[in-house]
Amino acid sequence: MLALNKSFLRALIIQHTKLCRNHLTPELKLHLITQECHLWKAGVDNCPFEDPFWAFYWPGGQALTRYILDNPVLFKNRRVLDIGSGCGSAAIASCLVGASQVVANDIDPAASVAIEINMEKNGADVQISTENFLENPPSEQYDTVLFGDMFYDPDFSHLISHWVKKLPHKTTVFIGDPGRLPFLNHPLKSALQKAARYELPITCQLENNGLTQADVWKYIVSK
Ligand SMILES: C[S@@+](CC[C@H](N)C(=O)[O-])C[C@H]1O[C@@H](n2cnc3c(N)ncnc32)[C@H](O)[C@@H]1O
Repeated sequence: MLALNKSFLRALIIQHTKLCRNHLTPELKLHLITQECHLWKAGVDNCPFEDPFWAFYWPGGQALTRYILDNPVLFKNRRVLDIGSGCGSAAIASCLVGASQVVANDIDPAASVAIEINMEKNGADVQISTENFLENPPSEQYDTVLFGDMFYDPDFSHLISHWVKKLPHKTTVFIGDPGRLPFLNHPLKSALQKAARYELPITCQLENNGLTQADVWKYIVSK
């Protein structure tokens, strides 16, 4: 990708995405690449963004964000860190239900700009970070750490599992996942409690090879 400055990225994101509510959390307006967008069918060579994961609302992220909006009491007055925030939905929802501090973390600079745009559209105020916390854990402490659809690769899933276990005692971790294989097999799975299951909207099912449901899992770090 060309070295794009922030205001140019902003304009590019707004130009190539559609502001939509057609997902599991219609309370939130999110800039996404949908089937109506020119980039939906564009090949890698014609896409101005490198791997624009932030431009899709992943099934695990939809379930996690739905859960936050449905259970405000669990997030109110909490310090929340959303790792792999993508479009920023879970961080934005946490802010809207009254979290005291919210950090949306994504290593993709384009995601950080998309999160900022989506945050503004929803009247939320979250801090945005592009640091790789999975390599250098945050110096600040959080009550709640979120992972929306981050268990898509076996090696990465193991890295996250080990990282999570090093979080401070009593940190609550919520994971949104639609039943991806790397998640089903990962070592943390047996220690998780299922918090919720959601049916995915038809558009989301069609965009995700027929996945029909997504779960939210809870893990409390215990030392
Ligand atoms: C599958 S998407 C999930 C996005 C969002 N959570 C959702 O559910 O819609 C994964 C996201 O994780 C980000 N990511 C990958 N590795 C990361 C890392 N080490 N730290 C933070 N974000 C990361 C990617 O840039 C991408 O936006």
